[in-house]
Amino acid sequence: MKKIVVVGSINMDLIMETPRLPALGETLLGGPFSTAPGGKGANQSAACARLGAEAVHIGRLGDDLFGRQLLEVLKDEGIDTSGIAVTPDRSSGVAQICVAGGDNSIIVAPGANALLSARDVRDHRDLFREARAALFQLEVPLEAVTEGLRLARSEGALTILNPAPWRPLPDETLALVDVFVPNAIELSQCAMTANREKAFEKLLETGVGAVVMTAGSDGAYFASSHRSGHVPAPSVNVVDSTGAGDTFTGALAVSLAEGHQLQEAVRFGVHAGALACTRLGALPAIPRRDEVEALLARS
Ligand code: RIB
Repeated sequence: MKKIVVVGSINMDLIMETPRLPALGETLLGGPFSTAPGGKGANQSAACARLGAEAVHIGRLGDDLFGRQLLEVLKDEGIDTSGIAVTPDRSSGVAQICVAGGDNSIIVAPGANALLSARDVRDHRDLFREARAALFQLEVPLEAVTEGLRLARSEGALTILNPAPWRPLPDETLALVDVFVPNAIELSQCAMTANREKAFEKLLETGVGAVVMTAGSDGAYFASSHRSGHVPAPSVNVVDSTGAGDTFTGALAVSLAEGHQLQEAVRFGVHAGALACTRLGALPAIPRRDEVEALLARS
């Protein structure tokens, strides 16, 4: 099994199903309510573990009921949780998610995730040893992400950044990224153009090794200095797209860590992400490897 380190958020998702999203100032009677583990970092760790990698997570939880439940879930997924610290006097991260007609809107209260520091990441330097890849998102402070990127590079791991939720990134951070995985909105925010080709070009010029843009039901687009292309998504019955991007990113990391070429890794990611849309919730909806392989064989 290839080792992948994930530096990132862990949240409890509070999910409300509703026929439509409320307008500002409106009270709406919704459908069923449920809680489920989530957070972009935790979802990506779980995707790596379910799809066949040795996943190691570095992050922070609060000293509360959600924190204890989330830690148990990550352990049950087979994730190495020795890099997760419990933070006194802070709540765990929480995300309020409205699911309407397969689409969603999310508000995150970061709680303990906001306290993950560069020092926390440095203190777990040993966890990066022999890692084939390291995955990052932007639900934890940028200083922790940049330090993780540096450590991963120095240990020879492939660095993958999913810039979600978007925030401006210094060139120094971008230059440490081997594979940049935005969605269409994040790509245009980062490159300051809505033209995909131009945005890819601009990012490759900053020193990013490759860019992979997720495009929902349209699959994903990718570009590196040698190749560019499009991988279409298989058609599936969409129940909830929450966490599909995280599943895609985890699957992409697993495939690249196993030594596959970018296009093949994107194809694996697109199929894993499509399956994640067929079930409710983020982390609980992540498929296992045999399901992804079966869908790939049928496509
Ligand atoms: O990408 C989906 C995730 O975003 C959810 O699990 C939620 O916790 C937010 O972080």
